[in-house]
Amino acid sequence: MCGIVGYVGKKDSVEILLNSLAKLEYRGYDSAGIAVFDEGKIVVEKTKGRLADLGEKLEKTYRPKGTCGIGHTRWATHGEPSDINSHPHGNEKITVVHNGIIENYNKIKTFLVEKGYVFESETDTETVAKLLDYYYNGNPFETIVKVLKEIEGSYGLGIMFADFPEKIFAVRKDSPLIVGVGEGENFIASDVPAILKYTRNYYLIEQNEIVTLSKDEVVIQDIHGDIIKKELKVADWDEESAEKGGFEHFMLKEIHEQPTALKTTIMPRVLNGMPFLEECGITTDMLKLYNKIFIVACGTAMHAGMVGKYLIERIARVDVTVDIASEFRYRNPIISSKDLVILISQSGETADTKAVLRLAKEHRATTLSIVNVKGSSIARESDFVIYTHAGPEISVASTKAYTVQLSIMYLLTFQLAYARGKITEEECREYTRKLVELPDIITDVLEIKDKCQYAASKLVNADSLLYIGRGLDYALSMEGSLKLKEISYIHSESYAAGELKHGTISLVTEHMPVIAVATQDDLFEKTISNVKEVKARGAYVLMICKENADYDNDAVDFVIKIPAADNIFMPIITAVPLQFIAYYTSVLKGCDVDKPRNLAKSVTVE
Ligand code: AGP
Ligand code: GLU
Repeated sequence: MCGIVGYVGKKDSVEILLNSLAKLEYRGYDSAGIAVFDEGKIVVEKTKGRLADLGEKLEKTYRPKGTCGIGHTRWATHGEPSDINSHPHGNEKITVVHNGIIENYNKIKTFLVEKGYVFESETDTETVAKLLDYYYNGNPFETIVKVLKEIEGSYGLGIMFADFPEKIFAVRKDSPLIVGVGEGENFIASDVPAILKYTRNYYLIEQNEIVTLSKDEVVIQDIHGDIIKKELKVADWDEESAEKGGFEHFMLKEIHEQPTALKTTIMPRVLNGMPFLEECGITTDMLKLYNKIFIVACGTAMHAGMVGKYLIERIARVDVTVDIASEFRYRNPIISSKDLVILISQSGETADTKAVLRLAKEHRATTLSIVNVKGSSIARESDFVIYTHAGPEISVASTKAYTVQLSIMYLLTFQLAYARGKITEEECREYTRKLVELPDIITDVLEIKDKCQYAASKLVNADSLLYIGRGLDYALSMEGSLKLKEISYIHSESYAAGELKHGTISLVTEHMPVIAVATQDDLFEKTISNVKEVKARGAYVLMICKENADYDNDAVDFVIKIPAADNIFMPIITAVPLQFIAYYTSVLKGCDVDKPRNLAKSVTVE
């Protein structure tokens, strides 16, 4: 899930490529590299490590000069992160940057080795570079078409041919690609933030469309050579919104953006006090039809689905199964044309979630995606899409994307419950009114960050943590636990509080802090009993509960109180302190908050 960029124009391409790549580092940061036409020759500079390492290398060795080039930031899939495996790959005639996986690279490699090619790297990408070289007949377009017929898998490719200086070629399949259109300059990129400093106009490139880019012209063709006319899109994310905006980390900024993100996501979907999803094509009539609902996603998005299951089953009384996409796709699930399959994804490019979407379509189920990135593959391929309007989420750890996903879960639940006669119009209005009030409540909750920072100081030396809760608190604590472990590297598990006594409680000692999420009034006493059980085993207990909760002070060591709303809305409110706790623990441990090790923002491989 690397990031690729390309520039052709009149300016110093190195500076532009580095700036653009910086906006794509969320896609991976194992290595970085560029290729530039320098006095008519392709000059490649690349290195293991981050973009900053590449910048340093260019200053120390050689900084290519030229107005046309391609660049890459890598998340390794084939071959370890190393100088040699870094992109671009190729030779002095043809050079390639690639995002994706060439699934049949072994077969192609064997073929090319027989033809006398010698491979330097362990990457699948090098097979594309060499296959282009093998087929090259002086015509880049024809050569690319021949290669596309041979390669299987996913790719966003940026290609330079030495015989065609001041031109860039690009193509994609199952990996994203856009073309940025400027004045006397044009760009390619895996994602829109990469070009925002220079232009807001762009084209979305579709499967196997081949792009030829020069400074004054963008030509897009299908594989038969026919010219494709496209609508020029205008990005509504300005460059500043993709920057840190004064916060120390993107994650902290994104936590603070939640009230706005929620308002922007909720308000267009409320009409006359009722949920209104018709703008996305979702009608009351169709919501009456479905037999069963599947919610499938990965990571944080799946956790939003868990909350959705509790809500839909409780309020709309429809049977919901939630599953991890990588499991669901291989377990031959029983889906019928009467079912609704909901895919949740911030990026809209997650490979496993995309595969489930395709599987659901094969079974003729109705597919509905809840996606943040406009025009992403999942959004485009599903029958219906509800966009969350969180804006760009740069930090690898998802925060605002999660809470806006939850807000859609509420809207969908209310509309579904009303359509099926499980709640009256009055009840539906009341729920919707409370949902609309949530962004302001979240604004108040942001004030408790100091308390969360203190809580983090109590957790920072732990090797392992437990999150416990019941019902919606359990669904939420899964997300709290993931957030903590992914950015602080402290092992943690979320456990249904009532299940502890069936095994896991044997892990509890004074060295194992426990975070108890106890916001559900009907389950509060039960959770408190479980809290007492772990306290009795010496655990340091941190509890998050409603401000009006009544509990025995001796049962807990530290309490974070949050505004008391209806039980069903507590997950979205409680998400904030859990995000802060993870954030400050990571900061106190000196971890790289926005770019945790081994992870990438957008997981476009299986
Ligand atoms: C979130 O903090 C994670 N980094 C990760 O679990 C993420 O939610 C998951 O990879 C799914 O991504 P998506 O929403 O873009 O599909
Ligand atoms: N497969 C390529 C590599 O390992 C690209 C990886 C990706 O896009 O994630 O270098």
